[in-house]
Amino acid sequence: MSKNRVSRRQFLNYTLTGVGGFMAAGMLMPMVRFAVDPVLQSKGESDFIPTPQKVDEITEEPTRVDYKFEQVDAWYTSEETGTAWVYKDEKGEIVALSPVCKHLGCVVDWNTDKSNPEHFYCPCHGGLYTKDGKNVPGTPPIAALDVFPIKEVDGYLYLGKAEPR
Ligand code: FES
Repeated sequence: MSKNRVSRRQFLNYTLTGVGGFMAAGMLMPMVRFAVDPVLQSKGESDFIPTPQKVDEITEEPTRVDYKFEQVDAWYTSEETGTAWVYKDEKGEIVALSPVCKHLGCVVDWNTDKSNPEHFYCPCHGGLYTKDGKNVPGTPPIAALDVFPIKEVDGYLYLGKAEPR
């Protein structure tokens, strides 16, 4: 007989430790997965968001397009509304501008300032942008409006993440 025999007490200790460890791992794994899951998921930043705007109905007049999207904030998902100003330029290319003013983040409107027609106007501090989204010198905004990458899917406009120029 070998001197390294396992006693009944040792066998019981090993067995209970193994079974206890296995059960603890079974309980802890879902908790660990829940804790790190949002970190592991891809952000999908390159995804385009569908809008209700039909591409063939876009004109040369900037139109406000509201769209819904899901915002994921760690473990919480909420439905948000986004907005873009959309028109066709003189070459027929679709332009989609962010409405967020580059001064302090108010929302710009098209053609609402009577003394500066055909401009994007920010009512907060009188910011002005030309139709192509460039900020008018001498007004508070310090940069042009951000631009959405766009694509057409089944006749509808899809927007990417707005980018600075
Ligand atoms: S936030 Fe638009 S001009 Fe100040």
